[in-house]
Amino acid sequence: MKYTYYGQSCFLIEADGKKFLFDPFIKSNPLAKDVDTSKIEADYILVSHGHGDHVADLVELAKQTNAEVIAMVEVAKWIKEQGVDKVTDINFGTQKLSFGKLRTVWAVHSSSNPDGSYGGNPAGFVLELAGKQIYFAGDTALTVEMKLLSELYNLDYAILPIGGHYTMDVDDAIIASKYIDCDQIIGVHYNTFPPISIDTEDATAKFKRESKTLWLPQIGETIAL
Ligand code: NI
Ligand code: MN
Repeated sequence: MKYTYYGQSCFLIEADGKKFLFDPFIKSNPLAKDVDTSKIEADYILVSHGHGDHVADLVELAKQTNAEVIAMVEVAKWIKEQGVDKVTDINFGTQKLSFGKLRTVWAVHSSSNPDGSYGGNPAGFVLELAGKQIYFAGDTALTVEMKLLSELYNLDYAILPIGGHYTMDVDDAIIASKYIDCDQIIGVHYNTFPPISIDTEDATAKFKRESKTLWLPQIGETIAL
């Protein structure tokens, strides 16, 4: 399984011969200016919520890749209105999809679509790919809801926001990693804007003190999971 980071909360997971792109926001992110989006391929695009820093390049990349787009019903409706045909709408709970089982979980945040229309609730996802269990929290504050995941799963990796201000900060993400009982954390949603700027060395050291690993790949970098 491979993980490629594209900045903010956008990343690509390659597993089981399939490519899963999450929260496409690349061209509007100056930090990701070296990413050539025309080369991005995807079988599935998962969208956590409708905010611009998660969907700015969604329509273009959905059309380019012909991927199946998976999003909460209210965001899915907006995506279909943009002329994207392969859209699967979901809500909280478990979904049997063509790649396997997805669980859509609570995220403590807000959601609206780029045109201002109602985006429903924001979400996180748990995927089971290549024999591994992976949690992407989306944009969320710390919530005890996360404790449910340690009952349901033995998570191998968790992709958590760590930039603070709009989401969990590093300290809250460490508490979250304890709630979900996961030691391998991949940080997202940091350094893109001044309010979410963090000291990455300090963040890495804080996780290490808790005997946990914080992975912070460079934008454009691919790591093996
Ligand atoms: Ni957001
Ligand atoms: Mn965001």
